[in-house]
Amino acid sequence: MSGIVGYIGWQNAVPILIDTLKRLEYRGYDSTGIAVIKDSSLGIRKRVGDIDVLKESLYKEPLNGMIGIGHTRWATHGKPTEENAHPHIAGKIAIVHNGIIENYLSLKESLLKEGRKFLSDTDTEVIAHLIDKNFTPSAGSGPAGSGLESAVQKTLKEISGTYALVAISPADPEKIVIARNENPIVIGLGRGEFFIASDASAILSYVKDIIFLDDGEIAVIKKEGVQVYDRNNKQVEKNIRRLGLNPILMEKGGYKHFILKEIFEQPRAIWDTVRGRVSGGEIIFEDFKLSSSDIKKIKRIFITGCGTSWHAGLIGKFMIEGLSRIPVEVDISSELRYRNPIIDSDTLIIAISESGETVDTIASLRDGKKKGAKTVSICNTIESSLSRESVSTINIHAGPEISVASTKTFTSSLSALYILSVYLAKLKGVIDDNETAGLINDIVTVMGKIEDVMGLEEEIEGLSKMFYEKKGFLYLGRGINYPVALEGAMKMKELSYIYAEGYPGGEMKHGPIALIDEHTPVVILAPQNILYEKSLIDIEEVKARNGVVIVFATEGDTEVVKMARHVLYVPHASEYLTPIIMSIPLQFLAYYVALRRGLNVDRPRNLAKSVTVE
Ligand code: F6R
Repeated sequence: MSGIVGYIGWQNAVPILIDTLKRLEYRGYDSTGIAVIKDSSLGIRKRVGDIDVLKESLYKEPLNGMIGIGHTRWATHGKPTEENAHPHIAGKIAIVHNGIIENYLSLKESLLKEGRKFLSDTDTEVIAHLIDKNFTPSAGSGPAGSGLESAVQKTLKEISGTYALVAISPADPEKIVIARNENPIVIGLGRGEFFIASDASAILSYVKDIIFLDDGEIAVIKKEGVQVYDRNNKQVEKNIRRLGLNPILMEKGGYKHFILKEIFEQPRAIWDTVRGRVSGGEIIFEDFKLSSSDIKKIKRIFITGCGTSWHAGLIGKFMIEGLSRIPVEVDISSELRYRNPIIDSDTLIIAISESGETVDTIASLRDGKKKGAKTVSICNTIESSLSRESVSTINIHAGPEISVASTKTFTSSLSALYILSVYLAKLKGVIDDNETAGLINDIVTVMGKIEDVMGLEEEIEGLSKMFYEKKGFLYLGRGINYPVALEGAMKMKELSYIYAEGYPGGEMKHGPIALIDEHTPVVILAPQNILYEKSLIDIEEVKARNGVVIVFATEGDTEVVKMARHVLYVPHASEYLTPIIMSIPLQFLAYYVALRRGLNVDRPRNLAKSVTVE
């Protein structure tokens, strides 16, 4: 969480810091700040609120300088106040930090005893004081050089925890020093200028060539170039990666909100996930490094992820078990990592993460690796920590998702899981060539139908008028559509702040039925599949208790309309692909309800897109 940026070069750093921070706002937006070096002194500005608040203050009272750092915060230690906002300053050191310092309390106590004064409640301020304490301008002997980098190196030995860290000092003014441990940070290489960011997408419009720092590394960045050192102070030769991302994808492209644009991008995003992986009735998985004999040995699969990615995993279980007959367990990553699961070399771990930086998901994958499991990640971010740590990575190619709430990456992850399921089934010999071709044809057909689902937007907008003032929603689905109900309820909660609960339809009578009255809308997913008749029972049971039912049914269904006032029709899809078709109207519903409530649909309160802390 939190986004950090830096700039060193020949331009005024301030507009660049503001622009790149703006692009990282999805990582947190409760307070912001920048620091620049000018004429041997630090210029600092911090504000509570988002980047626009900071920008406004810089219009009124400009700052400038050609070296600077910036931060957009998602609070962990201490409330969102100006004091707690980054950069944190101690003496002549300014730093921004993303992560958590676990031993900060004991360090703070010792520093207080030494007479140091603290202005904030953050763990980060401790790092600033330690760097200041360890700083000697002429400490020229460390392999990483003198001054700031030596002070940072000494400090890193004293702290424990996770960090991406950027430090500057007017006492050593020609450089920026950055360090990484479990939180991402990249360096963009320009001509005589360098850009630093938590995420490569933030600096895409400035540079194409990127260095990804690895855990334990420190980089010293000067106008003349970059030097990277490992934990043992040995200089490291880093690979330079050329990014193929299109900066246009980072813009709203005429839509009112990023989330609306991203909902509408789903036909393209799913196509980009699938194309290149299917050809002539076959699946080609160049990025899947397990051989057919590896796959035949797999006895058990664990799927793990958080939030929306966990919901995708729950659906993936239906696909993989149904098609390949390999047993699958699905665990929320923050649970899996602490429950000592039975994992061995016959296990495959599938970790799903849009950002590829979710700390619990990475930890679960690492734990599985230690136990000898094979690993594959399903990710939207190239070169993310998760994808770099897993043996195989399936990049979903959905393009940058700027809205904090996930939409297109959910359905793209489902598409990737589907292709993977068919692939596993084929390699295991559970399905033959004809069946494989048929299953591939099913997803190609669905891709054609997604455009039709988009046509529901207007009807759902109309429906939102009736429901936006409700206090709660219940979402019911059965079988493979139960996780879709969970996802629909979560979209409603995070976008509209209305309490919403997702439940398996058959389980409703064991508790949630008590919630039903004439004020509680109940969204029921009732596609024409093997559980269709059961879903009709759910509708009846809700109606019998005066509940207001909104049903999502399959086109051509003439039964449901006799039972419910609000029925929305989606095109038919094969069983494993109904979740893709069903989840899109639920995204529209949450979006329009939130919009009517006047909320910030792209940046709901308290959330951050990339959850890099526990
Ligand atoms: C909800 C949402 C979150 C994420 C979760 C995991 O709309 O976006 O629930 O799904 O924080 O993030 P990733 O997928 O980046 O690991």
